[in-house]
Amino acid sequence: MSNVRPEAFDRITSLEAANAFIETQTAEIRAQVGDGKVLLALSGGVDSSVVAALLIKAVGSNFIAVHVNHGLLRKGEPEQVVEVFRNQLGANIIYVDASDRFLNKLSGVSDPEQKRKIIGAEFIEVFAEEARKLEGVSFLAQGTIYPDILESKGIKAHHNVGGLPEDLNFELVEPVKLLYKDEVRLVGLALGLPESMVYRQPFPGPGLGVRCVGAITRDRLEAVRESDAVLREEFAKAGLQGKVWQYFTVVPPFTSTGIKDGKRTDDWSVIIRAVNSVDATSATVEEIPYELLFKIRDRILSEVSGVNRVLYDLSNKPVATIEWE
Ligand code: XMP
Repeated sequence: MSNVRPEAFDRITSLEAANAFIETQTAEIRAQVGDGKVLLALSGGVDSSVVAALLIKAVGSNFIAVHVNHGLLRKGEPEQVVEVFRNQLGANIIYVDASDRFLNKLSGVSDPEQKRKIIGAEFIEVFAEEARKLEGVSFLAQGTIYPDILESKGIKAHHNVGGLPEDLNFELVEPVKLLYKDEVRLVGLALGLPESMVYRQPFPGPGLGVRCVGAITRDRLEAVRESDAVLREEFAKAGLQGKVWQYFTVVPPFTSTGIKDGKRTDDWSVIIRAVNSVDATSATVEEIPYELLFKIRDRILSEVSGVNRVLYDLSNKPVATIEWE
């Protein structure tokens, strides 16, 4: 497959068209890989999930997915990946809980780009270790999509930290590389993936690591993870899931004074961020009703330990960026 989308390639705008794409792509994958084994790093994001579902359909048990939990995933995420791909779709999935490894490497590191480099390099290391344990794998699938190819400054390319070690010399399988995001989502729906997976908001590769600002500590990371879970649950209940482009919580590395049961506290703050955007190059703050904000505040302050303050970030991009680091 060339890297240029032919003019005759109709935009996929219906489930029918998505099904036709699935038919031709599964045939193309089979033609490319034959009886060979195909490996994929499955993050649980839309693109890698759709590629996984396509490969399960195309090559069945010759497809092996590796899901690396770097300890910076959102609450319930690794469980959902295993549930959907192993239990529901019957995939060969290797689940690696490498949380301690990542958190130990990140200990004391406060520079954002250094944190990203460590997470990216460690991810490749863990994935390569798993790949070396397998025999007879000659293909590597990737969830490259068309915008990744078009924009050399695209999110993935920009944050790319390098490739696999040279001894792992795989041939690439990139079945959705000519598709735009909306088309990938339709293909995912046609393949039977849950809507919560197909319409997931963008989530950075370094995960909650860039939302636990500065040097990551386990208590602050848990505060990010738990408050994010509360925020997502309340946004879903309020019908905002899939309507607001990206929403999450951030915990900065400083405490402030509070009062609980008549005693002074010295605890973390949780910052809520909710923005709308088209392509992440600019973003505007979503107007959240105060009633909903208050509900989220009350839940965070009562359910998330070590937190005594909740704030709402009013900054557009530019001047701010979407993430805090
Ligand atoms: P910023 O913070 O630059 O974010 O306004 C723009 C979009 O990119 C996401 N983002 C990342 N994605 N690795 C990623 O895969 C990263 O290191 C990273 N940093 C930011 C961010 O969530 C937003 O959607």
